[in-house]
Amino acid sequence: MEGAISSRPNTRVAVVTGGNKGIGFEVCRQLASDGEVTVVLTARDETRGTEAVEKLRALGLTDDDVVFHQLDITDESSIASLGDFLKTRFGKLDILVNNAAIAGLRIQKCYYPQDVDTNEEKFAGMDTKQRLEWMIKTVREPIDAAKKAVETNYYGTKHVTQALLPLLLQSSSSSQGKIVCVSSDYGLLKLIGDEEVRRDLDDIDNLTEERVDEVLHKFLSDFEAGALEGRGWPAGFSASKVTLVATNAFARIMARRHPTLALRVNCADPGYVKTDMTMGSGVLTPEEGACSVVGVALLPDGGPTGKYFTKGREASFV
Ligand SMILES: NC(=O)c1ccc[n+]([C@@H]2O[C@H](COP(=O)([O-])OP(=O)(O)OC[C@H]3O[C@@H](n4cnc5c(N)ncnc54)[C@H](OP(=O)(O)O)[C@@H]3O)[C@@H](O)[C@H]2O)c1
Repeated sequence: MEGAISSRPNTRVAVVTGGNKGIGFEVCRQLASDGEVTVVLTARDETRGTEAVEKLRALGLTDDDVVFHQLDITDESSIASLGDFLKTRFGKLDILVNNAAIAGLRIQKCYYPQDVDTNEEKFAGMDTKQRLEWMIKTVREPIDAAKKAVETNYYGTKHVTQALLPLLLQSSSSSQGKIVCVSSDYGLLKLIGDEEVRRDLDDIDNLTEERVDEVLHKFLSDFEAGALEGRGWPAGFSASKVTLVATNAFARIMARRHPTLALRVNCADPGYVKTDMTMGSGVLTPEEGACSVVGVALLPDGGPTGKYFTKGREASFV
């Protein structure tokens, strides 16, 4: 593309959302260490983002490997500014990792998450179930946090994807555009009790974005009415689960709409990872979690699309 500047024109360009910490930071580090990918580490907060890039520079990565650009996935003008930057600087985008998300929770006052590692002792000897039970006891799930999660996790991801899609589709003649949505077993359809909702979201040939909007609208109105469990919505981490279900559905719609070899859209589960989102309660390190995501981002051209991967293997969305 005219005006595009890239010091390594044959390398792929990747954008990672929410790259300043946790799994996103590690995805940036691993992709940037590949030697054939220039990573645009994005973060909503400029200071946190540039500090994250500095950390990667301290590990020996250069500005051919990683650069920073601000991106708040809920802010239209921020998304547009990233699109302009990519067009001017690289003229293309090869990989988009939709990682940024929030948990849709409030932490009880007794918990101060300044450093997730300080919780290491607390979780020693606890299995996954006990750790999740501890989390449930430690958090509240108010409606305003659920609304914010829907706005960020689903609509933010969707708007970033739609805005960057033209760049991904023309990514380059030699490589396919790849989109990876970071997902979870919390996004599996079996967690949705309403049979009609479950069936519609799994009917990928006929599923529309409008139907996903309706499902999310119903979720929030049932939440507001205090009727989550009675109406078949998952209990505990409800907003996180429902937004993951919706994002999986969106990824599948995108894959259906772009079946040609120009684009691959998949979802990847990093596992239960020690990050701020899990208050350090996870059983995997961010390095281990990110590895599963990077594996899907770097699948060879011509690979699967519209699929869900867990522990590096293809699995069911249901
Ligand atoms: N941890 C797990 O066990 C686990 C399991 C399955 C799936 N996941 C998924 O993995 C992804 C990363 O989670 P994590 O555990 O690494 O969480 P995390 O440590 O809390 O990191 C979340 C990242 O998202 C960013 N973010 C939040 N809202 C944003 C916005 N509006 N615009 C741009 N960035 C925003 C955060 O930025 P700030 O620093 O500015 O807040 C942060 O960089 C999420 O999609 C999560 O659902 C996590």
